[in-house]
Amino acid sequence: MDFTKEMEAARALAEARLTEFFSGGGLEKAMRYSLLAGGKRIRPVLTMKFCEAAGGTLEEALDFGCAVEMLHTYSLIHDDLPCMDNDDLRRGRPTSHKVFGECTATLAGDALQAAAFQTVLSAEGSWRHGGGACKALAARVLAEAAGVQGMCGGQYWDTADDGRPRTVEDLTAINDQKTGALLRAACMMGVAASMGRRTVEDACMDAARDYASNLGLAFQIRDDILDTTSTAGELGKPIGSDAANGKTTFVTLLGVRACERQVLDYTERAKEALCRCAWQGDTEFLLELADSLARRDH
Ligand code: IPE
Ligand code: IPE
Ligand code: MG
Ligand code: MG
Ligand code: MG
Repeated sequence: MDFTKEMEAARALAEARLTEFFSGGGLEKAMRYSLLAGGKRIRPVLTMKFCEAAGGTLEEALDFGCAVEMLHTYSLIHDDLPCMDNDDLRRGRPTSHKVFGECTATLAGDALQAAAFQTVLSAEGSWRHGGGACKALAARVLAEAAGVQGMCGGQYWDTADDGRPRTVEDLTAINDQKTGALLRAACMMGVAASMGRRTVEDACMDAARDYASNLGLAFQIRDDILDTTSTAGELGKPIGSDAANGKTTFVTLLGVRACERQVLDYTERAKEALCRCAWQGDTEFLLELADSLARRDH
């Protein structure tokens, strides 16, 4: 299968499974509004494809992938709130707080975060042995990525203003937390899902972590470039949001040209990391995915 078809197949699997959650009214309507608004579904695709690389199947990791997507969607709902980036458009639709109000949007995010852990812990990976241990590992990885050492900690530093100018090193650390952490969880949870049925070398978990860390830095720099060069129609979210919020980004520090080189550098490092262990399955898709994200235009 070629890359585009493989991507579409994995995406479609995640999309279909995500529609099976939250069918009720009230708060569930707001959760569904953001979760099923589209989105690239990069994180569940990574989870499933890492499970496959580690010798498993896409299906074994499907619920872990959906859990990461729920957590990611919560982070976007909160990121758009007036107290954070104050944005009106997300995934091509008015943001949650614009449609449902700030109170419901906040709660939809909170409930999606809880649902993410519920989904990990009740995942059906068709495991005969070891399901409990691999769910516990996945839940721990996700908790670390979501919390103060990960996404929330990164969002704190991203929005805090201590009056001190930000350096490239500061921004790298912030991006690694706010964006890298969840991508790391997505990849490592895929390896964890595979461990439900087979032994996987520790070196593969380390490679997944290092691939994701570099992919995350490339991903956020590309996001910051697109914020200055793309259009809202293409992105499905407002452009110029960083400037409107007075953010220092890689683009304001280095300019677009140097940022493009950084994206390519981190992408190469991600691909190198993947080649540092012996995988039981194919990694060609993951190598191509890194390249395609470096070139992405939305
Ligand atoms: C947006 O993530 C937030 C960042 C970490 C830059 P994505 O670009 O993956 O957003 P969706 O899921 O496709 O909407
Ligand atoms: C946010 O980064 C990353 C998150 C943890 C949600 P941005 O604020 O740049 O993401 P976008 O551009 O709004 O998607
Ligand atoms: Mg933000
Ligand atoms: Mg934002
Ligand atoms: Mg952005």
